[in-house]
Amino acid sequence: MISTPLTEICGVRVPVVQGGMQWVGKPELVAAVSNAGGLGIITALTQPNPDALRVAIRETRKSTDKPFGVNITLLPSINPPDYEGYARAAVEEGVKIFETAGNSPGKLIKYFKSEGCIVIHKCTTIRHAKSAERLGVDILSIDGFECAGHPGEDDIGGVVLLARAAQELKIPYIASGGFADGRGLVSALALGAAGVNMGTRFMCTVESPIHQNIKEKIVASTEQDTVHIFRTLRNTARVFKNSVSEQVVALERRPGGAKFEDLRELVSGARGRVVYENGDPEYGIWSAGISVGLIRDIPSCQELVARIEKEAEEVIAGMSRSVKVSSKL
Ligand SMILES: Cc1cc2nc3c(=O)[nH]c(=O)nc-3n(C[C@H](O)[C@H](O)[C@H](O)COP(=O)(O)O)c2cc1C
Repeated sequence: MISTPLTEICGVRVPVVQGGMQWVGKPELVAAVSNAGGLGIITALTQPNPDALRVAIRETRKSTDKPFGVNITLLPSINPPDYEGYARAAVEEGVKIFETAGNSPGKLIKYFKSEGCIVIHKCTTIRHAKSAERLGVDILSIDGFECAGHPGEDDIGGVVLLARAAQELKIPYIASGGFADGRGLVSALALGAAGVNMGTRFMCTVESPIHQNIKEKIVASTEQDTVHIFRTLRNTARVFKNSVSEQVVALERRPGGAKFEDLRELVSGARGRVVYENGDPEYGIWSAGISVGLIRDIPSCQELVARIEKEAEEVIAGMSRSVKVSSKL
């Protein structure tokens, strides 16, 4: 067993978190991850309203008696969702662990802390990590350049970002972006992290509530198969490379560039959702990280988490065998 501040604070057996995933972080996946010993996280905004989130939390609790959390992602939006309503619903339903992500999380973090909850805040720069630390979060989730979704605009890969976290942060942090196996977990621990956060790897499991074709597409793809969209809008997102995302990039690169309005139809969340429902990987934009290159199968969460744990223990044992203690005599 690998014990870290993450396993101790969150009460889980294995230092592996399943990060919030729009349209994917639903009860069946969350409960499977938690039952496997990791920390499953329900994605609040995948539910249409706070009452539906209550139902999702109850459903998850029916399938697991292990700890799980709720993700609230604060998006730049003209008509923002009812973040406070989602947060209150989850707290009232007894959820004790929250993953926050996105802009200006101060108010939510303050609320969760006043309710005695554990907050894992996800961010992509050391500057943001330090300000979340000052806001009183318990754990930081440091998302590097490799990650699915929003990596920020600084393009710092996980190795340097996590080593910087080791230099700068006082509270525990977990490593996110590009992790998919036991070797990755050990590398994260070596960089001072208390565990890993994974998105793409958990998308491609038996219990992940997306179409089988998309899981098979991930298995068949390589680390060359993702692309950054919205670079020119300074809202970069790593998504799967397909005809739609390539069209978006082409519009952004044309002389004069593109405004969000020019891209709106191509990038609509509704089209992305249909990808997961009907299994056509070309139908819209869908998030994926470069860890797609590491994914070769579609295991159950139980198999996956057990395999990561075993592989990590073997790698650590192998590494310690190669350390020769020199005699002082
Ligand atoms: C399909 C998908 C949807 C995601 N949606 C969200 C989201 O709504 N909120 C969020 O904070 N992160 C979201 N993420 C990011 C993950 O929580 C996690 O930070 C990321 O996947 C880590 O990188 P990895 O995919 O290389 O493991 C999403 C990732 C994926 C793959």
